[in-house]
Amino acid sequence: MNARSNTVKVAVVGGEGIGPEVTAQSHRILNWFIAKRGVPMTLREAEYGLIPYLATGKVLPDDTLEAMDEADAILWGATGGPETKEVPAAARKAGSLLSLRKKYDLYANLRPIVASSALAASAPLKAEVVRGVDFIILRELTSGIYFGEPRGIERLPDGQRRGFNTEQYTTNQIRRMARAAFELARTRRNKVCSVDKANVLETSVLWREEVIALHKEEFSDVELSHLYVDNAAMQIVREPRQFDVMVTGNMFGDILSDCAAMASGSLGMLPSASLGPVDRFGRRKALYEPVHGSAPDIAGKGIANPLGSILSVAMMLRTSLNRPEDANLLERAVDSALVAGARTADIAEAGARRLSTVEMGDAVLNALETVAGKEREHA
Ligand code: IPM
Ligand code: MG
Repeated sequence: MNARSNTVKVAVVGGEGIGPEVTAQSHRILNWFIAKRGVPMTLREAEYGLIPYLATGKVLPDDTLEAMDEADAILWGATGGPETKEVPAAARKAGSLLSLRKKYDLYANLRPIVASSALAASAPLKAEVVRGVDFIILRELTSGIYFGEPRGIERLPDGQRRGFNTEQYTTNQIRRMARAAFELARTRRNKVCSVDKANVLETSVLWREEVIALHKEEFSDVELSHLYVDNAAMQIVREPRQFDVMVTGNMFGDILSDCAAMASGSLGMLPSASLGPVDRFGRRKALYEPVHGSAPDIAGKGIANPLGSILSVAMMLRTSLNRPEDANLLERAVDSALVAGARTADIAEAGARRLSTVEMGDAVLNALETVAGKEREHA
């Protein structure tokens, strides 16, 4: 939020692959909330990736960087794809999503896993396993093996090459994650499961010790359990309903969130929020993005599922705009579009009509009008 007014600045960055297509639909949704619900936000669109690289030599041109720097909330589409090879690795790295997460210290990555009952038939897991699933993976996003030093690929005296990375976590990095998990759990079903590999890794031994210590000091009202990551992967597919808040490090969270996506029906449905620290004005930088990547195989075809991006807007409304009713309204609209049978190819049952990306956007906008209208009648 802006220090002088309560208008929230939003940067809209579609990026690459299917990013621009899905983001165009959430852009329409954002405009709807400004026009119809008076949500106080300004939108600034900016380019990212191959197209600006060809024009400016930077994947993240200055204008985009400025839009993101000044934004309270960033709506991000996707990055990467086969066109990556046209951009030299160094130019890629300079403006990568990872570098942005690091730059804004977006350490707390929330990935909600919510099963839509409308999609039970097309989910890869059995309907009775998926029914009622509702948990959040809280993934540490700016440290761990993704950023640890030393790292590299070196030449050994015998001519072989050796690749190496460093997994590392400090007390503070662990504690701020654990705190985020406990605080989140208190707003939900009050359960935290911390995932590590403490039977093998020192970083995980420290992780577990610090989580336990903070729990004892400040959060003993929250139910805390621990799982090794291999067991956690198994439990997510065996009985996903047992989880409320799952907190874990960067790499484990990356892997487990893709795995958990299958307990929600489709990777294309999953939103995420990445939150930075709260500053002295009480503001908190945030980046919202669908968990699915750039999906280069279907990019440009207009068939991608925009719901991951649209549900990321719901997270933005809830977290950066403090508009829980509007967030609920959008989530209900998505659900009612699904219940009415709206399906993109990735979530379509055999024989179901497959909507294009734009048609799915239309379906959600129509549902918004209907659901908001019903709310007014009941008010
Ligand atoms: C994710 C993605 C990224 C990650 C990639 C694109 C670097 O898989 O957000 O889960 O590994 O963090
Ligand atoms: Mg991933």
